[in-house]
Amino acid sequence: MQNMKHITVLKNEAIKYLNINPNGIYVDGTLGGAGHSSEIIKRLNEGHLYAFDQDQFAIDFAKERLGTSKSYTLIKNNFMYMKEELAKREIYKIDGLLLDLGLSSFQIDDIERGFTYLKDTDLDMRMNQQQTLTAKEIVNTYEKEKLAHIFFVYGEEKNSFKIVDEIIKNRPLETTMDLVKITDKINYRDKGHSAKRVFQALRIAVNKELDVLEKVLKDAVDMLNPDGRLVVITFHSLEDRIVKHFFKQESTQQIPKGLPVMVKDTSKLEVLTRKPIYPSQTELMENSRSKCAKLRVARRRDI
Ligand SMILES: C[S@@+](CC[C@H](N)C(=O)[O-])C[C@H]1O[C@@H](n2cnc3c(N)ncnc32)[C@H](O)[C@@H]1O
Repeated sequence: MQNMKHITVLKNEAIKYLNINPNGIYVDGTLGGAGHSSEIIKRLNEGHLYAFDQDQFAIDFAKERLGTSKSYTLIKNNFMYMKEELAKREIYKIDGLLLDLGLSSFQIDDIERGFTYLKDTDLDMRMNQQQTLTAKEIVNTYEKEKLAHIFFVYGEEKNSFKIVDEIIKNRPLETTMDLVKITDKINYRDKGHSAKRVFQALRIAVNKELDVLEKVLKDAVDMLNPDGRLVVITFHSLEDRIVKHFFKQESTQQIPKGLPVMVKDTSKLEVLTRKPIYPSQTELMENSRSKCAKLRVARRRDI
């Protein structure tokens, strides 16, 4: 099995905020290297952990790492199907959901997966190897406006139209370096890597990362028991914005305008982190990949 070097980000903070009840039901939506999952399992007695990953490699690795405990079930699927997968197992309520979004180090470091702009390889970027849509298909078949929209919205790439014009002139693109040559030409003034924003945008589009996040947050609110926790670690501003807005919306009482009477607060969440929690200096020094991490937590109110 390929070497698994993923270092768990914000481990102690995430586990503390999950406030684990040894007899509760927990979901890790992003199993990865099983770093958070193994900490959750250690704290369970009669409770159970359902851990999702859409990457077969993560599932196989976790089976070895977590061993034969009866306290967990691994589910190879997108976490957007959490509600459906748990219903199949007659689970309708949970006490906590953890999401540690983005990629595991093994996915970034496995050159053939096509996530890195530093090496020449196929334009792939799928987290789920069974999925058919790849980055190559997107760059070679999407029409101009749609592709520019992806780069602009998901990558906040200001030169999106110029880049798309070059892509269309040079189709078909085969490898990561075919794309990097184009971003180097257009973004030659950039201080950071010219392809950073375009690669982020393609990854989000290939894996529909923002749509699945919105879906799972909504399902989680319905499924959480009172005092259950929603713990989310994000790595870029678009994801963080979705979590922040969702928490705000679900923790704010919607009072119809002009209503003169006091109304019972029916908001579903209480936000436990007014400001996001960042990795400590020690963690940042030990793991540079924790640099962009932000942790936000909400608790299900009893209404
Ligand atoms: C940052 S890693 C998680 C690391 C893990 N918390 C640990 O400590 O080892 C994210 C993992 O979530 C998986 N993932 C990301 N989005 C997913 C989704 N929508 N559904 C299922 N798995 C997903 C990725 O395949 C990756 O393995």
